[in-house]
Amino acid sequence: MIQKLLEPISVGPMKLSNRVVMTAMHLNYCPQGEMTDRMVNFYRARARGGASLVIVGGAEIDAEASGVDLFLSIKDDKYIPGLKRLVDAVHEEGGKIAVQLYMAGAYSFASMKGLPIFAPSEYESYFTRQKTTAMTLADILRVQDDFVQAARRAKAAGFDAVEVLASAGYLICQFLSPKTNKRDDEYGGPLENRMRFGLEVIRKVREEAGSDMAVIVRVAGNDFVQDSHTNKEARVFARACQDAGADCINVTGGWHESRVPQITMDLPQAGYVYLARGIKENVSVPVIGCNRINDPLIAEDVLAEGIADLVGVARGLLADPEFVNKARQQKFDEIRRCVACNQRCFDYVFQLRPVGCMVNPKAGREGETELKPATKAKKIFVAGAGPAGCEFACAATERGHKVVLFDRVDYLGGQVHWSAVRTRKPEYLNMFTYYRAMLDKLKVDVRLNTELTPAFVAREKPDLVVVATGAAPFKPPIPEVDLPYVLQAWDVLKDDLKTGTNVVVVGGGSVGLETAVFLASKGTISPEQLYFLTLHQAERPEALRELITKGVKNVTVLEMLGRVGQDLGPSTRWVLMKDLHTRGIQIITGATMKSISEGKVTYTDSQGNEQTLPADTVVLAMGARSENFLAKELETTGVEVKVIGDAAKVGKIGDAVEEGFNLALEV
Ligand SMILES: Cc1cc2nc3c(=O)[nH]c(=O)nc-3n(C[C@H](O)[C@H](O)[C@H](O)COP(=O)(O)OP(=O)(O)OC[C@H]3O[C@@H](n4cnc5c(N)ncnc54)[C@H](O)[C@@H]3O)c2cc1C
Ligand SMILES: Cc1cc2nc3c(=O)[nH]c(=O)nc-3n(C[C@H](O)[C@H](O)[C@H](O)COP(=O)(O)O)c2cc1C
Ligand code: SF4
Repeated sequence: MIQKLLEPISVGPMKLSNRVVMTAMHLNYCPQGEMTDRMVNFYRARARGGASLVIVGGAEIDAEASGVDLFLSIKDDKYIPGLKRLVDAVHEEGGKIAVQLYMAGAYSFASMKGLPIFAPSEYESYFTRQKTTAMTLADILRVQDDFVQAARRAKAAGFDAVEVLASAGYLICQFLSPKTNKRDDEYGGPLENRMRFGLEVIRKVREEAGSDMAVIVRVAGNDFVQDSHTNKEARVFARACQDAGADCINVTGGWHESRVPQITMDLPQAGYVYLARGIKENVSVPVIGCNRINDPLIAEDVLAEGIADLVGVARGLLADPEFVNKARQQKFDEIRRCVACNQRCFDYVFQLRPVGCMVNPKAGREGETELKPATKAKKIFVAGAGPAGCEFACAATERGHKVVLFDRVDYLGGQVHWSAVRTRKPEYLNMFTYYRAMLDKLKVDVRLNTELTPAFVAREKPDLVVVATGAAPFKPPIPEVDLPYVLQAWDVLKDDLKTGTNVVVVGGGSVGLETAVFLASKGTISPEQLYFLTLHQAERPEALRELITKGVKNVTVLEMLGRVGQDLGPSTRWVLMKDLHTRGIQIITGATMKSISEGKVTYTDSQGNEQTLPADTVVLAMGARSENFLAKELETTGVEVKVIGDAAKVGKIGDAVEEGFNLALEV
């Protein structure tokens, strides 16, 4: 039941209608820092969808703050009218809006503009590999004033609150941490001194905000960086922030440079709210708990148990702007759940592309994706109920078309259905909880266990056939592929096929690497065993780590190119690489497979030398090919045919969803 989530709460002078806060997300929507319709439409939709407070930004407070042109800007008075347009849109929808005051310090790319990269001390940033300039006392005062001027502009634009960014390893964190702050003046040394810069910022911003604009401070609940702050110091700092005038503490996880995953799907849902709980015990102002809260029932639990006073939901609202409204109406299955893939949000930030969402084709396109009624309702057959087919079927039906969705197997989901759990992405299945609910709601005629055939099409004569039949694994043209000990990665994952002790995976793309992890984890202990052994202190921590990482197989990945995991995004690749390393999976790059025979694989190494590896089982993960022969067979029927998703070009889930949706907009 959803109850606490919908209760109002006051944050300083700001009255919020419920407990869901959309935390800040840099979106790459604002060239040269200017407000855009895209940004306004994006946040209007989130406010309309029921989020009580949206925190926009980070907004760069000065020229050195980010060094990236696509950042929202609050560094000059000329941005006030644009910011006001955004504020007005959110207010029109009944929401409240805050702006996050962003100063990256050592994480900035200001040097690309010939500007200094400010930091408390001189060092090379582990995250950006940029050399920093130690701030003088004059620099400190100037940057603090930049925060104040930004707060003044926020007030002029009508924001309900400002958020001071003191998390994720940005400038205030750099002052806080003994790892990055080596100063010997009053801003360095003991914790009390290291806190000084941030607390002065908060005091000055508080003063500028006055009594009618709230001040939120976003803190790292634990830096998760060696020689830096843990949750112990975070509690002290949070209390000091309150004393300096903060109305609310927003608690997230660690720094960007942390080697502990912060927002990938490896982090369990609500995995860091324990940090908020620790801080809540030490302050009296409201506390926001964050990270991986993508389910209203989990959010309700966090709130009802008093772990946090508000929940921060960022990607959950990117994935579904109606998250709160749907929760209010108890329509849980109709929520498009963020699955923490990062494929179209965080990864796009690094690629300087406007942020979108893998599961929501409308994200960032709110102004151009309204599903208007079709001029003529068509009879449409869709072959394939994977992501492409399901998305098309829902969107086309919403437009008034009569859609019949066929799949030859007895489940929705295509490749996702069988790959998600085995590749440790179980939440991907939530996509199909959503599609199932929507297909039911829209009364789409779904025919599972039914192959769409050319004969059936010729007889029924639909206006359009959409071929969304996906892909099949590539089978190299070598005789060995049919040997009993040579398996396809798809089949290993799908059917949990048994393999020998020495396994060679050929192909180091994401599928090969994930299959290697799947196989290398055979024989490791389960989460339940880990819990039991930990609770009863039955094994030493080092032994437990060994038990969860060392399985019973020797797994080697052979990759022809110089680098594995090239199809993975920057925010997830390093996590998988760490996992492969921890599990002792051997990776050989620049290796071209030559032959397979009983017990061994022969390959040519990067120097051109022939090498052999022991192999009881060889697993092929050499890519996939489109399965679209149905489209060719339909050419003679005279029926219009469109091909989408992997059937058109092997890609990713986001491509399939987007193509399904875009086609539905067109037909
Ligand atoms: C192991 C693995 C891991 C992956 N991990 C990721 C990931 O992390 N992120 C990501 O973005 N992508 C990932 N992918 C890729 C992703 O799953 C595909 O890109 C996506 O599923 C393609 O969607 P689709 O709808 O085009 O096709 P599919 O998902 O292949 O669905 C096609 C459907 O068509 C049905 N069908 C075929 N012919 C007919 C017919 N004649 N009549 C009726 N039905 C028919 C099939 O049964 C199938 O259900 C992964 C793929 C694999 C194999
Ligand atoms: C694309 C993207 C951009 C982000 N930008 C910011 C930012 O500018 N400032 C910030 O404090 N947090 C930023 N975050 C972190 C989010 O506010 C949030 O804490 C994080 O995504 C975890 O919460 P979630 O699981 O609800 O998404 C960003 C996250 C994403 C995915
Ligand atoms: S792209 Fe992936 S991680 Fe980002 S919001 Fe969408 S589902 Fe969530």
